[in-house]
Amino acid sequence: MASCLGHFPAQDYIPVSEFYAEKSVFVTGGTGFMGKVLVEKLLRSCPKIKNIYLLMRPKRGQDVTSRLSELIQSPLFETLRRDRPQELNKIVPIVGDITDPELGISAADQTMLCQKVSVVFHSAATVKFDEKLKLSVTINMLGTQQLVQLCHRMMLLEALVHVSTAYCNCERETVEETVYAPPALPEHVVTLVQTLPDELVDRITPDLVGDRPNTYTFTKALAEDMLIRECGNLPVAIVRPSIVLSSLKEPVKGWVDNFNGPNGIIAAVGKGVFRTMLGTGTKVADLVPVDTVINLMIVSAWRTHLRRGDGVVVYNCCTGQQNPITWSYFVKTSFKYMRRHPFSDLVWYPGGDITNNRVKHAILTLLQHRIPAFLLDVIARASMKKPTMMRVQNKLENASACLEYFTTRQWAFSDDNVKALCAALSPQDRGIFDFDVTNIDWDAYIESYVLGIRRFLFKESPETLPKSRKVLRSAHDKSSCGRVYSVEISVQPFERA
Ligand SMILES: NC(=O)c1ccc[n+]([C@@H]2O[C@H](COP(=O)([O-])OP(=O)(O)OC[C@H]3O[C@@H](n4cnc5c(N)ncnc54)[C@H](OP(=O)(O)O)[C@@H]3O)[C@@H](O)[C@H]2O)c1
Repeated sequence: MASCLGHFPAQDYIPVSEFYAEKSVFVTGGTGFMGKVLVEKLLRSCPKIKNIYLLMRPKRGQDVTSRLSELIQSPLFETLRRDRPQELNKIVPIVGDITDPELGISAADQTMLCQKVSVVFHSAATVKFDEKLKLSVTINMLGTQQLVQLCHRMMLLEALVHVSTAYCNCERETVEETVYAPPALPEHVVTLVQTLPDELVDRITPDLVGDRPNTYTFTKALAEDMLIRECGNLPVAIVRPSIVLSSLKEPVKGWVDNFNGPNGIIAAVGKGVFRTMLGTGTKVADLVPVDTVINLMIVSAWRTHLRRGDGVVVYNCCTGQQNPITWSYFVKTSFKYMRRHPFSDLVWYPGGDITNNRVKHAILTLLQHRIPAFLLDVIARASMKKPTMMRVQNKLENASACLEYFTTRQWAFSDDNVKALCAALSPQDRGIFDFDVTNIDWDAYIESYVLGIRRFLFKESPETLPKSRKVLRSAHDKSSCGRVYSVEISVQPFERA
């Protein structure tokens, strides 16, 4: 595994956007949180790119054409829609499903992709931590395997970028930029889930997953091993982000589109319905903005082609080594900005803490989550409204339990390859495709994150801020005597937008 990336002599330097000129790209997971940012950035910053083929499946009664129309109406694409709408015509949907044989792609589309695609970004995955093992194996491992098989047939392939996770080796405290021996043989795990009855697979899942906390990190680790063994001499890079949050600056600050992981918790804390969480305040919170990850992915493809002989290079896309913050800092700074830019329809004054004392956490959960939720449901029933708060609390507690493993530990993710890649860029490319995490001003970033949750998840326009601030000020006075002041409940945590 190469780790020293080296520099290119100035006269041989090919700007990143030029690398993509007249080339077509194939993206899996392009309808997801990170995939959308990737597509937008490629179209905006690599204007000579030819086509972006997006693997898409019909979903919830929508065919891929209407899904694509909806996708490009996202606020994320506003700049392109306004300034260069013709770029959006470069997106071509490819009907498929990575759980189907040959990715569910028609023979004609496969032939076309094999003739035209130069760069592949594989981002599709199930990111549900506690997904059933069988489905997680099918999507995260077999999907990757099938994609590699397709890549072997691509005549022009110059780079395959596989999106993994920094936590796929979370049983180690120090994680280098290398693919470690897998926790089990991938082919054995595949055979098990394909031959045993589902109920038995569920029963043996904890034993199979072993010292990893969930099926997600387990299958992502096995997918890396499968990829390494099956890629042959394909030009491959693996990008491993830690916890990906809203955009730092591009194309809009604070853009986020799902309630997954910390987003759902912070959204609920901001609404006042969540106040205690297990975690160690002094441990590093390895968070990374989505546009930082995407810039690194785009540049890693450029470098993979230009230094093809180096073998598979892994990039740990993390912040903990170069620009660390703690969970306590993250939580306290989020509170500061939730109070400065409050959400509408609060249930309680936003507050609370992160604690590693399980007894204290259990007592606070009862007093601050479950009893108020129960009472609010009683009030809702009495006013002939649908009781929702207990259901919301159950979801939040489940989500916070999934995060607990990550908020009570810390890791040292080496990122020498990331630093070397950054150093190999021209100053101009370093500006256009910025993934230097030392540039992140966390206080400003967390402010934009809170505002992003308000604007993009709760769809609350900035004009509603003065009213929300007024309500919060009066709530602060009342909450000092412990009063819950509103029963207007409008949170839908953990349901995808
Ligand atoms: N978000 C993070 O914090 C984070 C951190 C580290 C690593 N990662 C990795 O980054 C990648 C992207 O994550 P994300 O946060 O963008 O996830 P996401 O928002 O859940 O998106 C997942 C994408 O995968 C697609 N997909 C899932 N099953 C599919 C199937 N059977 N056939 C075709 N497409 C399918 C989804 O398509 P549909 O729209 O059709 O469902 C969607 O486009 C993943 O590989 C993940 O492991 C994410």
